[in-house]
Amino acid sequence: MNRPFVLLSAAMSIDGHLDDATDRRLVLSNDADWDRVDEVRAGCDAILVGANTIRRDDPRLLIRSPARRAARVAAGLPAHPVKVALSRSGNLPADAAFFTEGDGEKLVYADVDVLLADLHARGVRRLMVEGGTSVHTEFLTRGLADELHLVVAPFFVGDARAPRLVHDGRFPWHTGHRATLAEVRKIGNVVLHRYLLGQSEVDRHWLAEAVELSRRCPPSDTAFAVGAVVVDALGEEMARGYSRETDDRVHAEEAALARLDPADPRLAHATIYSSLEPCSRRASRPRTCTGLILDAGIPRVVFAAREPATFVDGEGAELLAAAGREVVEVPELAGAVREVNRHLW
Ligand SMILES: NC(=O)c1ccc[n+]([C@@H]2O[C@H](COP(=O)([O-])OP(=O)(O)OC[C@H]3O[C@@H](n4cnc5c(N)ncnc54)[C@H](OP(=O)(O)O)[C@@H]3O)[C@@H](O)[C@H]2O)c1
Ligand SMILES: [Zn+2]
Repeated sequence: MNRPFVLLSAAMSIDGHLDDATDRRLVLSNDADWDRVDEVRAGCDAILVGANTIRRDDPRLLIRSPARRAARVAAGLPAHPVKVALSRSGNLPADAAFFTEGDGEKLVYADVDVLLADLHARGVRRLMVEGGTSVHTEFLTRGLADELHLVVAPFFVGDARAPRLVHDGRFPWHTGHRATLAEVRKIGNVVLHRYLLGQSEVDRHWLAEAVELSRRCPPSDTAFAVGAVVVDALGEEMARGYSRETDDRVHAEEAALARLDPADPRLAHATIYSSLEPCSRRASRPRTCTGLILDAGIPRVVFAAREPATFVDGEGAELLAAAGREVVEVPELAGAVREVNRHLW
């Protein structure tokens, strides 16, 4: 990915408005949530807003907490993330807080693609996008967002002239292909929803579930501890299982698949997440997990770690790929899988 990781952040009313139709800035959130936003900002390299948000709200876009600024400086980062604005017209007031507050870098772009490529070239790895409506709409409809933090405040604006979260458009996440809800958090009287949008974020989320599941396996000196989760095309969990869950020989993928009807039409579009590469040779049972996955018709297999040659030399990934299945390895989580199985690795 030669663009930064893109995190969209917004607060809206129950009826989906980012603001009301007056000139005054609408307060949607509460202090605790502002502090959460400050924390998220501190974890980013740059913060982006659209020119209208600068003209209307005049945000400072700085880290408020001295402790968070100090921690950034101690880590060799500038005290504040780089401020970034999108404007075709270039019509931005010179006395806007965007320019006058904070001594960090301020960048203005007239094109999203140029912006993303240039920020990446400048070393920006994590970009926070804070609105408004047009900017969120463009990033979302073009599939340029990896994560969405959406706060809902407990009141209605009740005015169709007020800006919504997004304009009309064709979004990659619709009724047939949904975003993955990673977290819901009550923060005083508002609710934070954290949605994963990018496929690699979704994969990491479910694979982390599978690794957590593997910690529940009854101990064994002769077999790995593995967790597996089957997820349908809507992002809904279908089944899960772990090694030795239902009998002392059962494998994680086998335990999960045994809970599903082989005729379930969702299997044809499902993904199976397994903490360890599915086995391809097996002493204890006639069917390997690779064979079971092929029989089930599951088109996509995601795992964290290759099977080490402790017992047999695994080639599950190769066999699945040769059969036309999409095979994704997420090595970032392999360390956790080795840790769960450290007595065998
Ligand atoms: N509740 C929240 O979380 C939140 C957060 C932020 C903003 N808001 C609200 O959102 C509203 C503003 O939304 P908005 O849609 O009117 O404005 P916006 O998205 O903030 O800014 C739109 C402007 O950004 C520039 N722009 C957008 N896309 C561009 C592109 N692809 N290339 C170059 N420039 C581009 C254009 O600037 P030029 O016109 O200069 O060419 C455009 O007019 C305000 O009411 C604000 O209060 C709410
Ligand atoms: Zn197996």
